[in-house]
Amino acid sequence: MPKAKSIFACRECGAQFPKWLGQCSECGAWGSVAEEAPLPAKAIVAIAAKTPAAIREISTLEGKRISSGIESLDLVLGGGFVPGSLTLLGGEPGIGKSTLLTQVSGLLASKARRVLYLSGEESAAQVKLRAERIGATGDSFYLANCSELTEAVAFIEGADPDLLIVDSIQTMHSSDAESAPGSVSQVRQCAATLQQIAKSKEVAVVLVGHVTKDGSLAGPKVLEHLVDTVLSFEGEGFGRMRAVRAVKNRFGSVDEIAVFEMTERGLEDVPNPSAALLAERNPDAAGSAVFPAMEGSRAVLVEIQALVAPNYANNPRRSVVGLDYNRVMLVLGVLEKRCGLRLGAHDVFVSAVGGLQIREPAADLPVLLAVASSLKDVPVPPDLVAFGEIGLTGEIRSAGSAEQRLKEAARLGFSRAAVSKHLKQSHGVPGMKLGAFRTVQDALALLAP
Ligand code: TYD
Ligand code: MG
Repeated sequence: MPKAKSIFACRECGAQFPKWLGQCSECGAWGSVAEEAPLPAKAIVAIAAKTPAAIREISTLEGKRISSGIESLDLVLGGGFVPGSLTLLGGEPGIGKSTLLTQVSGLLASKARRVLYLSGEESAAQVKLRAERIGATGDSFYLANCSELTEAVAFIEGADPDLLIVDSIQTMHSSDAESAPGSVSQVRQCAATLQQIAKSKEVAVVLVGHVTKDGSLAGPKVLEHLVDTVLSFEGEGFGRMRAVRAVKNRFGSVDEIAVFEMTERGLEDVPNPSAALLAERNPDAAGSAVFPAMEGSRAVLVEIQALVAPNYANNPRRSVVGLDYNRVMLVLGVLEKRCGLRLGAHDVFVSAVGGLQIREPAADLPVLLAVASSLKDVPVPPDLVAFGEIGLTGEIRSAGSAEQRLKEAARLGFSRAAVSKHLKQSHGVPGMKLGAFRTVQDALALLAP
């Protein structure tokens, strides 16, 4: 038999190469390519015929979903954890992954569910301290410090859990595999083994995954394909508000978000995110506009802030937090060209307050109003919300889910909305006056001093 050739794989994206590279030519990451032990090839021998089951005979686990005990998290999951499935929870260090899962463990244990929490990063005593602080104790909450796969399997056999938490998948390694912990093949092998166990024992498994600087799930891009659900924990990491959203979900929609606030007793569900996000807003300040954003099936009011300050150096700065950088640049371009506002000698900072990541083009209009408001030093009317996409010719386009956005704004006491002229008036909501504008020039009339 010829000697199996070793291959080199990128830890970030999983791309394989015949030789070592300093920079991955697929994803561009530096120093991420490492040697991987080759998988032994197996020959396929005689195969007997097998009859697949008819679809109506197949039983689903839908009815056996395990509620996490946190209503909004259940919504994100599509109704709770599915036994036999793998969920990956990704997020930056310190955002609250371990906290959230400890809470869920406590809640499940209090309902006589068996939970096994395997921590590779912290000792059992450390996890216990946290669990006690947030009141997550229960007789069927089992804890172990474990980072080796065979040992993990033994713990699973011993505890026979309904929910298994592996914190984190990057610290888990198999001593059978030759490559280093954290490498692609290690992570993949551990996840695959855990998946087999999940399926055969009908355990719901949650894997914690770290996220790299650029926001992608570190290394295990491969994992995203393997697991059933990918949840992403978002937030500034320093702000109070955190959001969990599904990036992929084989058992539900990917639209819902759960919003939490970090307190000294762990994460608290925020049932009314709009009110919380606007709580510290100063409505009379220039440079602030309110955007009714759509987060899945619900509208959330987010404050968009802008600061336009004179720049005395050569390079005016542009900084965008929580919004799409390119869309904000487009809005700045439209303001220069179509409205004659001179931003070239100014630094421009734009941010969505509260740590939510806004990807909707409908945020263009509130961004425009906030920037113009800051430049002119004239506040946006305090009872006004705005939404609408802005085109390159300065036209304001209508955005979807108008009714829901308006309802949420009305609910929180706003009485006016700046929208596109093209928005159907039938979308009107009682108590909401619509100011319909065709172009950005028209909309700037809102900022008349
Ligand atoms: P942690 O859940 O360990 O984050 P991760 O597992 O995602 O790395 O902790 C998040 C941060 O939250 C940590 O810096 C401490 C803080 N924290 C609180 O403010 N209140 C609490 O009750 C807990 C448990 C943590
Ligand atoms: Mg942690």
